[in-house]
Amino acid sequence: MSRLHIVGGNKISGEVKIQGAKNSVLPILAATLLIKGKCVLRNCPKLSDVESAVEILRYMGCTVTFEDDVIIVDSQGAKNYDIPDILMRKMRSSIMFLGPVMGRFQKARLCFPGGCELGPRPIDIHINAFREMGIKVIERHGCINCNTTEKTSSREITLPFPSVGATENIMMFACTLKGKTVIENAAKEPEIEDLQNFLNKMGAKIHGAGSGHIVIYGGRELFGAEYKIMPDRIVASTYMSAAAITGGELYLKDVVPSHLSAVLSIFEKAGCHIKKGRDYIYFKAPEKLKNVKTIMTMPYPGFPTDSNPVIAASLIKAKGTSVIIETIFQNRFKYTSELSRLGANIKIDSRVCVIEGVEKLYGAKVEATDLRGGAALVVAALGAEGETYIDNVFYIDRGYENIEKVLKSLGGQIERI
Ligand code: EPZ
Repeated sequence: MSRLHIVGGNKISGEVKIQGAKNSVLPILAATLLIKGKCVLRNCPKLSDVESAVEILRYMGCTVTFEDDVIIVDSQGAKNYDIPDILMRKMRSSIMFLGPVMGRFQKARLCFPGGCELGPRPIDIHINAFREMGIKVIERHGCINCNTTEKTSSREITLPFPSVGATENIMMFACTLKGKTVIENAAKEPEIEDLQNFLNKMGAKIHGAGSGHIVIYGGRELFGAEYKIMPDRIVASTYMSAAAITGGELYLKDVVPSHLSAVLSIFEKAGCHIKKGRDYIYFKAPEKLKNVKTIMTMPYPGFPTDSNPVIAASLIKAKGTSVIIETIFQNRFKYTSELSRLGANIKIDSRVCVIEGVEKLYGAKVEATDLRGGAALVVAALGAEGETYIDNVFYIDRGYENIEKVLKSLGGQIERI
């Protein structure tokens, strides 16, 4: 089991190209099942979650190649409509295969691991939406069996919460339903827009992604398409957090600044100087950050829950007290106990996190508790005095491509052992 060894104290500065978005390439990979042909996806990040999605596609009968940042999926041979438990367990977000599998086979059998490191990951919004569209869903022994019926048809669906995954599943399935499907209170994340753009390149007719009101005119013939995955806004927020805690200066390339508005405004409140271009961000941190009174995570375009841990880590040595309120995931703050081992002064009361700024952090042995929590430990270790060892690096590898290589190129003393 590999671990990261970090010696803190260096400024994280320089130029960094941001990898393709994990939360965009995953649903788009699932969507390739909707056609019997070839799709070419560019700017794909090399992540274990992407490997897991590729493994599921191969199990279903697709041929998939992954060279450099290009994934080619030929889904001509797809025939399995059931995904075994062992593959579903590898990645919590495998639920996003439900929509495309139903679209391709009109039936699906998926087993769910239920929770993940962030707490229970219910799928009730997905299931209720599919039932509303006339799909028969039987839940038994942690698995769900779905079948279309003669009542299955396009209609208007209103989500009780703007669930990203549920929005994506309905979009993908509705492409195969004749007529007009409308999703009200849809998630507005940029990854939803990326999925819409890819599906439309496949011949679908969808509009409204990003607005909360999405319209899908389904039943059209779909065919293979080429697509370039958008940049990963959460990874961008992570490297800015590393520069923020070390007083560094970054030039981020291949980013979409508008995807990061809520995050950039927090960094500006903390005293960072930011300049935005069409596809770049110039970021300069002060020697010492100011505290940020209140950060509240919200569905997009609000402050993203996935940036909560890395921003919290960057504020550990800020002047004064910062508060983060988590409104999306129950166990998002699991990582803070590991940050305390580095000397952070953090108190948690259910979904409220109070960070009292400290003068110094000291290297220690810590372990990642989840993907973004692990990234937070890397950020804090870079701002700590002395050596830190981080275990359970596999969590971090789910979402960050060569994190040690990137940070070393930015002046960080970090290696994988
Ligand atoms: C997506 O997860 C992302 N994953 C998450 O990123 C991200 O944190 C999340 O959206 C919120 O932005 C991918 O895109 C692969 P949700 P998803 O459905 O789709 C509750 C990362 O670190 N809910 O919007 O699972 C749910 O429990 C990952 O990259 C239900 O109650 O998020 C949560 O509290 C972590 N019932 C909230 O809604 C449901 O049926 C948001 O979930 C579905 C969700």
